[in-house]
Amino acid sequence: MNLDVMGKLRRTHYCAQLSLSNIGKTVCAAGFVQKRRDLGNLIFIDLRDRTGVLQLAFDGITAKDVFEKASGCRSEFVIMAQGEIRKRESINRDIPTGEIELFVTNLRVLSAAKTPPFEILDPVNAGEELRYSYRYLDLRRLEMQRILTLRHRVAKIARDYFNDNEFLEIETPALIRATPEGARDYLVPSRVHKGKCYALPQSPQLYKQLLMVSGFDRYMQIVRCFRDEDLRADRQPEFTQLDLEMSFVDVDDVLKINEGFISRLFKEVLDIEIQTPLPRIKYEEAMRRYGSDKPDTRFELELCDISDLLKDTEFRVFSGALETGSIRAVNAKGAAKIYSRKDIDNLTELVKTYKAKGLAWLKLGAGNETSSYEKFITPEERTAVREKTQAQPDDIIFIVADPDNDIVFNSLGALRLELGRKLGLIDPAIFKPLWVVDFPLFEYDEEDERLYARHHPFTSVADEDIEKMEADPAQCKAKAYDLVLHGYEIGGGSIRINNAQLQQQMFRVMGINEQEAAEKFGFLLDAFTYGVPPHGGMAYGLDRLVMILAGKDSIKDVIAFPKMQNANELMTNCPSVPTAEQLEELGISYIRKPDN
Ligand code: AMO
Ligand code: AMP
Repeated sequence: MNLDVMGKLRRTHYCAQLSLSNIGKTVCAAGFVQKRRDLGNLIFIDLRDRTGVLQLAFDGITAKDVFEKASGCRSEFVIMAQGEIRKRESINRDIPTGEIELFVTNLRVLSAAKTPPFEILDPVNAGEELRYSYRYLDLRRLEMQRILTLRHRVAKIARDYFNDNEFLEIETPALIRATPEGARDYLVPSRVHKGKCYALPQSPQLYKQLLMVSGFDRYMQIVRCFRDEDLRADRQPEFTQLDLEMSFVDVDDVLKINEGFISRLFKEVLDIEIQTPLPRIKYEEAMRRYGSDKPDTRFELELCDISDLLKDTEFRVFSGALETGSIRAVNAKGAAKIYSRKDIDNLTELVKTYKAKGLAWLKLGAGNETSSYEKFITPEERTAVREKTQAQPDDIIFIVADPDNDIVFNSLGALRLELGRKLGLIDPAIFKPLWVVDFPLFEYDEEDERLYARHHPFTSVADEDIEKMEADPAQCKAKAYDLVLHGYEIGGGSIRINNAQLQQQMFRVMGINEQEAAEKFGFLLDAFTYGVPPHGGMAYGLDRLVMILAGKDSIKDVIAFPKMQNANELMTNCPSVPTAEQLEELGISYIRKPDN
């Protein structure tokens, strides 16, 4: 067996590094066979490496040995080819190297390959299951190589930018005591301490705050976080944060440093100028105008409160909403031309998934008007609604009423996004990052009948609300902010409480008694008694950021080896059943339910 497959050959260039300027030069390229074409005494092979594709040419008359080797090469063989760059006869304008080819005089077949289960091609023509079972082949696609290269660049720019601004990258542990970010923890049983578990971090929140107590006044880390939540297009059970924390700052200072990062990132990656300071919108206004705390502001289609206009309505669904909730509308401009009854039924189903009880609509034809329910609104009320929503012929006004305002907002917010997409109102070339600020400090959980910190329990109350903390917690605002782009929350953070007394007060409001607080967070409360600089920070969802920069709509596309919908990984088939020995060692016995 000859293990020295490369001999003295070594790569001199990546495929896409070669161009007309290399004509006449002897070079060596290496990679995978994309495709072979045989034309009598000529063979062409498209060679693919991570940068692109280069045409290799073989001549059966002048270089017979090499030609014969080439004729045995099939798709995905790994080869190395040396020869001279020459101008190509038939130019291919679709690829950057389309004007040249490598005339091969020395070919090494480094590894043969079985026929892959799907063709390595963009766009890929294979189902998800197959692609992710052979993710290493799926990653060979140039689109995936482009995306992971872009991801690398984003991380590099982040490290450079924060380094330039005096941030230190410091690692925090992955086996920790649970951090309260609100999701379920992944637990890791301890062998040494039988019956006890570590948790994998949902974020480095407490450690980064402790680093502030330690005097590392500007910290950053690109760090893996783990949350046992249901997967979505923008959610993975393990994901990466670009995490940072700063001492001696208030809200404006944190936002400013991050605006610098965002504008540098977009300039370097997409050559887009982002105007700073970024717009800021208060949580309350975002909900009122867009029905969302992460509004996509690339299009208008704003919500309109029509409660006042219908305050004397006889329609029970509406009047029943008014006391504690509201009636709100969205005017879908020009939708009457596009939406059939069936489409509207689908929209009704959509709002129902957000707990709305129904969707009323008013369709404005050229001379006539039709509606979901003729009697729900009097002619006068109709006119008033039409005027307030500035409806014109061909518009459809969609209305949701509910005694719970959150249901009205969430359902119309989702409807707005769906309408925006369907009506073609979203320009993918526009980037409008913005801050959502002034979040409520707490949220009420109906099931548990108690208040939870909306961001996390270390977030500071707004200066002006400090007196209200115990008397009227629901009205308190937080020094918390989210960075929103394209309707995604790409980052979030807050100014922290840096006073043990206020922290205790916070726990009290949330119904965590002193003993429980001491048990769970005693180390933090203790640390705060030894001198703690005022501090705050934020964390980006790096995967989401890269997803948007790469123009994708799922974070799976920007993670090398992501998890599937049910949190498994198809390629290695994990999670897997532990062996009896492992369980014994950990002192664990468990009951396998029959359907698992
Ligand atoms: P938060 O919980 O808001 O804040 O998380 C920060 C950002 O991380 C991203 N993110 C996720 N991305 C992919 N999959 C997930 N399952 C997932 N969960 C969150 C989001 C989000 O904005 N310690 C605080 C930050 C701080 O206060 O400094 C924290 O973790 O883009
Ligand atoms: P119903 O009385 O349930 O037949 O509903 C009559 C009309 O009102 C239908 O068009 C429903 O879709 C609509 N509708 C019902 N509940 C609501 C609601 N909560 N908000 C808006 N429209 C509703």
